[in-house]
Amino acid sequence: MAVIALRGWHPAVARAEAIAMFPEARLVRTPARRLLTTDDESVWTRAQYLSGTECVLLGGGIMEWTSIEDLLSAIDVEMHESMAVECWRHEGKLPIGTKEVEKKVGGLFHDVSSTFNLDSPVNRFGIVLDASAGLVAWGWIEGQGPGKQGWSAMRANNRPFFKPVSLEPRLARAAVNIAAGPSNGYVVDPMCGTGGILIESALCNRPTLGIDSDPEMVEGTKSNLEWAGVKAEVVRGDATRHTYPDDLCAVVVDPPYGRNSQGEVELLANTLRNISSQHSDCGLVVILPTLPSDVNLDEEIDSETSLFEECGFTVQKVLGIPIHKSLARKMVIASTSLQVREV
Ligand SMILES: C[S@@+](CC[C@H](N)C(=O)[O-])C[C@H]1O[C@@H](n2cnc3c(N)ncnc32)[C@H](O)[C@@H]1O
Repeated sequence: MAVIALRGWHPAVARAEAIAMFPEARLVRTPARRLLTTDDESVWTRAQYLSGTECVLLGGGIMEWTSIEDLLSAIDVEMHESMAVECWRHEGKLPIGTKEVEKKVGGLFHDVSSTFNLDSPVNRFGIVLDASAGLVAWGWIEGQGPGKQGWSAMRANNRPFFKPVSLEPRLARAAVNIAAGPSNGYVVDPMCGTGGILIESALCNRPTLGIDSDPEMVEGTKSNLEWAGVKAEVVRGDATRHTYPDDLCAVVVDPPYGRNSQGEVELLANTLRNISSQHSDCGLVVILPTLPSDVNLDEEIDSETSLFEECGFTVQKVLGIPIHKSLARKMVIASTSLQVREV
């Protein structure tokens, strides 16, 4: 069994990202909003690329928290070299300290002659104490683990070319993964602005293309890509007329918004029609403005999606995302194929 531990900033986005990136496995929700489980196999090493997943816990389990003794007797203990034990909390406190759990679980592995390396362990054993549902999950960590893990270093306003329109990196990363899944075709942002979506796509080693009609954005995006140390193609062009690459797998786009004018709606519609007329199997994530009352961190939201259907896309779900008190966005997840996956 595998347990997928999600970060707390947006469990519904994190869940959608995990579903898209581990398509081989049927992921099952638990009473804890940040824990999913599966008995299926997938390529769990992909976990390192997900922004909404802390890690996948392998070879472990999940149960109701009762006592440290019950946890210790549930863990399968075998000798491991170069290991470390990490315990962390989700959503408040269970009546036990993380340090005490680490010490006692470490003791179990020590008793079977395991060796420890706390600075750079090869094998990390994780225990999540989830107070939202009174659960404890454990297993060998695949992926980054809890904590910020470098997302702050990639903050959009540290880039050489910054505009207030720049999308938050963790949201851009999740959007790319949701649209493209594990496919290794091209990810295209046809209105790339400052290049935030392109950076996240290229950091995952995906073939990446950015298009923007504004030459200042094209040049700025190129400098941001260089700053991030990643490669992507960037061209000046019109999203509504551009010829997309043959091996396109996903389009991720954050179109101009704010005035909600007819021009902006037509720009999006013409862009979508241009894509669906060229590709019959393409993932899509569009980030649009919405009302703060649409924000929901746990479930999909109701939203009018006829524009997408009229332009050749099937909408899978819409998620509402908080930006600040008076501003929210929605993430429309769609594709030109008819496959829809759900947990
Ligand atoms: C909201 S911004 C994108 C922001 C971007 N996601 C970021 O993180 O910086 C929208 C971009 O669409 C571009 N744009 C507007 N009309 C376009 C068109 N017809 N074709 C291509 N790009 C267009 C604008 O120049 C602008 O850079």
